[in-house]
Formats: sequence, C-alpha cells, structure tokens
Amino acid sequence: MKALVTGAAGFIGSTLASALLASGDYSEVVGVDSLTDYYSVARKRRNLSQSSLKELVFIEGDLMELDLASLLDGATHVYHLAGQPGVRASWGTEFRQYSRNNVDVTQKLLEASRAISSLESFVYSSSSSVYGNALRYPTSELDLPAPESPYGVSKLAAEHLCNVYASNFGVPTVSLRYFTVYGPRQRPDMAFTRFLTAVRDGNAVSLFGDGEQVRDFTFVSDIVQANILAASAAVAPGTVLNISGGTSISVLDVLSVIRDVTGREVRIDYQPRVSGDVRQTGGDSTSAGVLVDWAPKINIFEGLSSQWEWLLSGL
Ligand code: NAD
Ligand code: UGA
Repeated sequence: MKALVTGAAGFIGSTLASALLASGDYSEVVGVDSLTDYYSVARKRRNLSQSSLKELVFIEGDLMELDLASLLDGATHVYHLAGQPGVRASWGTEFRQYSRNNVDVTQKLLEASRAISSLESFVYSSSSSVYGNALRYPTSELDLPAPESPYGVSKLAAEHLCNVYASNFGVPTVSLRYFTVYGPRQRPDMAFTRFLTAVRDGNAVSLFGDGEQVRDFTFVSDIVQANILAASAAVAPGTVLNISGGTSISVLDVLSVIRDVTGREVRIDYQPRVSGDVRQTGGDSTSAGVLVDWAPKINIFEGLSSQWEWLLSGL
C-alpha cells in the first residue's frame, strides 16, 4: 500500500505522516508540501526533521504545479491536508490564497485521482467552519452548512467537490470536519500556541472578544486516528463526518485550564472580536462512531498538558 499525505510539513499533516510510518501498514509514505509562508517555513522544516519522519519520501512542491499523475501513481490512500488554513485571515485580497490552495488544489487532485485504479480512499480535511453559527448544538452532518468566514466558504466548496467526484466518478472520498485542532506542532496563529507562548514568556494573552465564545477543541492524535480509521473503513464514497473533541468549552474557561496546567499566572489583554469568528462550535460525532468506529480519547487537560510540554521542549 502507498499513502500520499498532502500538507505533510504542516501541523496535522506531519503528525499524521509520522503515525502512518509507525503503523507499518504502508510500503511507502509520500509527503508533499510547498512550504507556504503563511507561518514560519523554519517551523515546517523542523516538523519534517523529526526522526519519526526519516522514512518519509518528501517532495517539496506546489500541488498546482506538480504532475499529479506521477505523484499518485500506485497510491492506495490519499490524505489531503494541504491547504490555506486560518479563519480570521481569510478576508480581503488574502482570499486568493484560500480559493487557490483550498478549492483549485482539491479539484486538481480529485481530477487526477479519477484515473488511479489502485485508489481505495481519499480522505479530505474539512472543517467545522463550514457550519458558521449553527442553528443547533451539537451540530450534526445533516444540519445546513452556512459558513461565516471566507475560509469556511473555501473549505465547504472543496468538500462539495469531493462529493461530486464521488457521485459522478466513484472517487472514494470521505470528508472529515475537524473541530479546532490542538496539540504539539499546533500552528503559531492558533489560540493555544499563542496563549501558551504568552504565558511561558510572562506576557498577557490576547483575547479576541469577550472570551465567551465556545469551541469543541480536538486533540491532534484523535484527528490522526480518525484519518486512519476513515481510510480503512468501508464507507460510501462522499461520506461526510464530524470529528470533534466532545467537550465544548469557552475560551475564558480554557484560560483557567491553562492556569492549572502551567501553574502560572494568566493575564488577559482584551482585544476586539474578529470578523469571521463564530460564537460556538460543537459537533455531534455519532456518525463517526457508527461508521468508522471513532471516538475522541484525549480531554482538554491532558491535551493542553501535552502541548505545554512540547512548547517547553523547544521542538
Ligand atoms: P498547516 O498550515 O500547518 O498545514 C497545511 C500545509 O499545506 C502547509 O504546510 C502548507 O505549506 C501546505 N500547502 C498549502 N498550499 C499548498 C499547495 N498548493 N501545495 C502543496 N502544499 C500546500 O495547517 P493545519 O492546521 O495542519 O491544517 C491542515 C488541514 O486541516 C488544512 O486543510 C486545514 O484547512 C484543515 N483543518 C485544520 C483545522 C485546525 O484546527 N488546525 C481544523 C479544521 C480543518
Ligand atoms: C481553527 C483553525 O484555525 C481553522 O483552520 C479550522 O478550520 C477551525 O479551527 C475549525 O474548527 O474548523 P479557530 O476555531 O478560530 O479556527 O481556532 P483558534 O485559532 O484556536 O481560536 C479559538 C478561539 O480563540 C477563537 O474564538 C479565537 O478568536 C480565539 N483567539 C484566538 C483568541 O481569543 N486569541 C488569540 O490570540 C487567538
């Protein structure tokens, strides 16, 4: 079996690639990443330099420019994580990065996947941001998606592309809607990395809005496990699944957990709310349990402790 991991230098992609290599299930794990400068390229190179990725066949390149037929040749499993993340940065001219790296790249990869007869599964990294401010919580896959940010629009467009390539051509797609992912290697623009870094350095944490916004934070090893289970399950092409941590918690309450985890003072610098930021996310992951036997394992205290240790280690 041959796995292709797109976005392999990123936060989740590098963690997934390590797990795929460790599983011994694949004769070859190929990673591709263009090392975009959305955040530090040195950070991405550090992700790639982990000893757990020694056996990764890494190709540095842009999926819009690479020859995808040869990249996909013989692939049995595609884990498609490459993309332009970040809710709050997706306004203005920056949106070009989102439409290109989320929508165009996914369409090109799906088109190339049509011709790959060895392909057993194409797992797409979708997002809770497709829901926007949902009408009910916990939100199920049957609830109407209504993104609140341009980022969410781009992730939903790509998810719909997965569905139409599944229904028209049988491409074996499964879209996983991740709810705010955290843990070691988390991106530097995301809340927990920013909060823990500020606490480590004795600075105040920047809190956007009143801090009462709620997120269903999900630990990265649970996301990795969801990818692995979804890739090997016999699900119908075009399946869409919520992958959520299962504990919805406000950002202010997260800061209390950070106080407990770090044993340090947490000072708050209140900043205005940022456009595109939804009031609440909370996912119903029942379908992921039924269809791919997935359930979250790591709670917020364990997960934040692990991310804090990672940050202090300087890795
Ligand atoms: P990340 O930015 O760390 O990883 C994405 C990687 O994709 C980057 O290393 C980037 O260089 C690469 N990339 C972007 N465009 C590319 C292109 N054209 N060709 C090749 N490589 C390209 O982000 P992440 O947090 O690890 O997120 C991974 C995926 O999961 C993204 O698709 C994101 O939308 C999705 N997602 C993330 C979260 C989260 O909370 N982190 C939640 C929901 C969905
Ligand atoms: C995250 C990811 O960044 C997206 O790529 C992903 O698709 C999305 O989750 C998702 O679940 O779909 P977000 O929920 O904004 O988006 O994640 P964080 O950056 O961890 O922010 C969580 C909350 O903390 C937000 O309300 C944000 O406004 C707040 N925050 C963030 C602060 O108050 N201060 C900060 O410095 C950073």
